[in-house]
Amino acid sequence: MLKKTYAAIILLAVFWQSQVYADGHKVAIASAHPLATAAGFEILDKGGNVFDAAVAVSGALAVVEPSGSGLGGGAYWLLHREKDGKETLIDGREKAPLASHKSMYLDKKGHIVPRLSLDGALAAAIPGMPAGLVHLSEKYGKLPLAESLAPAIRYARTGFAIGERYLKLLKFRAELINKYPQTAGIFLDNGKLPKLYSILKQPDLAKTLTQLADSGRDGFYSGNIADKLVNAIQKGGGIWTKEDLESYQVVEREPVRGQYKGIKITSTAPSSSGGIALIEALNILSGYDLQEADEITRKHLITEAMRRAYHDRTLYLGDADFIDIPVKRLLNEDYAAGLRSSIRQDKALPSNMLSGEIQKQPEGTNTTHFSIIDEEGNRVAATLSINFPFGSGFVAAGTGVLLNDEMDDFASLPGAMNGYGLVGGAANAIAPGKRMLSSMTPTFLENDSSIAVLGTPGGSRIISMVLLAALDFAKGNGPDSWVQVPRFHHQFMPDVIEYEKGALTGSELKGLAAMGHQLKAARYPYGDMQAVLLNKKAKTLEAASDKRGEGRAMVSYP
Ligand code: DON
Repeated sequence: MLKKTYAAIILLAVFWQSQVYADGHKVAIASAHPLATAAGFEILDKGGNVFDAAVAVSGALAVVEPSGSGLGGGAYWLLHREKDGKETLIDGREKAPLASHKSMYLDKKGHIVPRLSLDGALAAAIPGMPAGLVHLSEKYGKLPLAESLAPAIRYARTGFAIGERYLKLLKFRAELINKYPQTAGIFLDNGKLPKLYSILKQPDLAKTLTQLADSGRDGFYSGNIADKLVNAIQKGGGIWTKEDLESYQVVEREPVRGQYKGIKITSTAPSSSGGIALIEALNILSGYDLQEADEITRKHLITEAMRRAYHDRTLYLGDADFIDIPVKRLLNEDYAAGLRSSIRQDKALPSNMLSGEIQKQPEGTNTTHFSIIDEEGNRVAATLSINFPFGSGFVAAGTGVLLNDEMDDFASLPGAMNGYGLVGGAANAIAPGKRMLSSMTPTFLENDSSIAVLGTPGGSRIISMVLLAALDFAKGNGPDSWVQVPRFHHQFMPDVIEYEKGALTGSELKGLAAMGHQLKAARYPYGDMQAVLLNKKAKTLEAASDKRGEGRAMVSYP
């Protein structure tokens, strides 16, 4: 049966169908790569639960979408277990090395050294993904880690055909990758872009994954892999020590929660800013009838809510283990009402008129997301990242592990923009062992009739994308619609609405400009949202992958 089911998955994947037949499971999975979705179903077929499937999908994405996430990066897994109602956020975000310091990306004059926090060994923070996989499997899964990671190991060893998206992102980082022979040797073909559909094999990564699968966290954070990582990083100008790896721990956090017009929202707590900013924006918008408003007013109000939520992100958010965050206030509905009272229906408020100073002591795009839900309501929303496409471009020789450039998510200098144009201050300053502030927003939405699981990559724009999808859910639309919503975005600074071409009509552009908004078309469509839905009464499932990407959404029926 297993063989038959697996063959059916592959066959259907090839023909872009969205339904598979699996023994005894009714599950929906949407991920950014067909092979990752197939890995999830393979593990369910072996008797795994949705958390084992999440391990399998995460591991597979680390192999087949190396531009977006991997063992050298970090992740947030938001979980709900139906039998006891347990809901938790596994924070596997990377940490700053112990030798890091607040001015490590500045020159002697105190200016930022361009690209130092983005490219190469010094940009890499201590990975959390391997520890997160072990934790997720041991604490919530039913199967051994080695079984759940088997599809990922197989993909790394026997290879897979690379697609257009992979090539596009590789092109973006090819110059950097060519500086590192150990990285170029894996991803490039004699220094050039490989051919479309050529087979990418990653034998070193297969070995590292096998070691993690067999030995758990010790297989990565101590022993020979750890030695290779630390040696390579130090040789490459980085500052990791063995203590950094040995001391890395994931944290389980209570998710943040909110309500919007009868919808329960559950999302990421800091070290990600996503959940708080999302709920704050929805709280502000709850005072309006957006369905009744004309389109220009609607988009203006959503923009003003985004502006205020991202402003508070800038002022207050960072790693909760290092700073005090006024979470209760930021999530409070009366606080949101105060912010709402500063919004005029007919006029934009320039961002520099918002009160509050950025605290002065210091402080591109790829990532991935998948969503899983079964008919009982067990669910996982996970966003995983190495930050920019192909992270820092740096592979530690002999490990196959491509390291992140997540250090750029810290504020290297108060008020200076990072790779996503985000500014920050003391709350998100670099400190040894601290987690850099993220925008990743894996989220659950629930109303009387359905439960939604969703999220997306997209750097600073993640939060606004999830917000627009949540508003679309509130309209009564399903996952096919949320993932396709035309996108626009405001992040407080720079003070501009960025929009996908076609997301705003000519008259909306005119109307918003007349209110005082600056507008700028995004160069490309952005995001790669993956979403699933359970209809609570009918027990039916739906799944959708963003058409901007190459993902695959599937529903299985027993
Ligand atoms: O954690 C963050 O907010 C970023 N490192 C996410 C980067 C990202 O989504 C890139 N994707 N396109």
